[in-house]
Amino acid sequence: MQGKRGSTLLLHNVPKILAERVLLVGLGREAEFNEQRFTEAVRAAIRTLKEIGVPEAALGFIELPVKKRDTAWKVLQTILVATDSSYRFDRLKSKHDEEQISLGKLTLMLSERIELKRSETALEQALAIADGVNLTKDLGNLPANICTPTYLAEQASQIAKKHHLKLEVLEKKDMERLGMNSLLSVARGSRQPPKLIILQYSGASKKQKPIALVGKGVTFDTGGISIKPAAEMDEMKFDMCGAASVLGTIKAAAQIKLPINLVGIIPATENMPGGNASRPGDVVTSMSGQSIEILNTDAEGRLILCDALTYAERFQPALVIDVATLTGACVIALGHVASGLYSNDEMLARDLLQAGDYAQDRAWQMPLWDDYQEQLKSNFADMANIGGRPAGSITAACFLWRFTKKYTWAHLDIAGTAWKSGKEKGATGRPVPLLTRFLIHKATKA
Ligand code: BES
Ligand code: MN
Ligand code: ZN
Repeated sequence: MQGKRGSTLLLHNVPKILAERVLLVGLGREAEFNEQRFTEAVRAAIRTLKEIGVPEAALGFIELPVKKRDTAWKVLQTILVATDSSYRFDRLKSKHDEEQISLGKLTLMLSERIELKRSETALEQALAIADGVNLTKDLGNLPANICTPTYLAEQASQIAKKHHLKLEVLEKKDMERLGMNSLLSVARGSRQPPKLIILQYSGASKKQKPIALVGKGVTFDTGGISIKPAAEMDEMKFDMCGAASVLGTIKAAAQIKLPINLVGIIPATENMPGGNASRPGDVVTSMSGQSIEILNTDAEGRLILCDALTYAERFQPALVIDVATLTGACVIALGHVASGLYSNDEMLARDLLQAGDYAQDRAWQMPLWDDYQEQLKSNFADMANIGGRPAGSITAACFLWRFTKKYTWAHLDIAGTAWKSGKEKGATGRPVPLLTRFLIHKATKA
């Protein structure tokens, strides 16, 4: 064993060691050991344990010194990596993936007793976050013929029952009454009724202003009349991952019993072509009173989010964060590594970046500048819903910005981070770790 990164060596019956087997995991050069190497090593260990079919193991990683990170961080990362690599989605297969002996029990070893209390809290939080991530992955992975707007509302209802949360679901007629014509313009082409899901968690006094989380819930995005090409269109079932991450985050916060107030707002609809669908050139008036020329029906995320963001005003939120698989352009800009972050408040941006860094669920701040607003000019309405090819992720954020003038706001474009394509196709559960970390930080600062 030379200790090369990612290498492992399994030893049997080591003298003077009570464990039957010992798995050595290479960490690479000590001077280069860092946060990423830590999670990489845990991942290598878990993968090997699963390969050899071990039902139970004790992990010694928590004692490894990682620059700038404490025991709580190491506990969180170990749990997130372990649950991530144990995740399966085989409920729709008639034969379940060949059931090896699954890793049923993990023990985390601590060397110092004083760390015990803090580690237990960290463990509880980590398990709740992992549950939230798993819920988000499940909802993302479900196909659009099962995971409809109605299904999302039912799932929200189950979370509400389990954690005693307040749930309200607005129907099409309620949206009409509220003047949510922009949201309704997207739902027109679909046979599935749209839903506006409002899930509230109260962990603090009524006087405390809530944090609002708004999630894009397009359960399938065909593009509508501006229809998408066929290749990989199946992946547009993941277009509700923003919504799923809001549900996952609220569930985690409720499980931890965070002393804060939260409101989740989820506009849920399909984007389909059809005889009743919106056409390019149609003009609609949003709930805010601003009119929109729909030049491309495939830019539907912003159309449903703008009405949800206006609706958020009534909760007098301390701040609002929306989460959306909004633009292909964001994937071009940041790839699958970082989510795009936009904010009208530098402090909020900094806190979110920091939370992402801590949770290893990183975001990268993009410019929200008036200079880009020009691209949204329309000859026929207050704005167009597209801004052309240049800076596509930024002009989408600029569109939302026009609806968030009344509060502190941030926007996460998770188009590149919410799911993986190819052989490992599946939802990632991001940005639940970032958001929950942000909320935990807020709750302890307050
Ligand atoms: N859901 C898509 C964004 C998307 C595309 C996410 C590919 C991940 C991968 C969104 O509704 C969309 O279609 N956006 C358009 C906007 C364009 C018409 C201005 C896009 O990005 O092409
Ligand atoms: Mn679209
Ligand atoms: Zn979309």
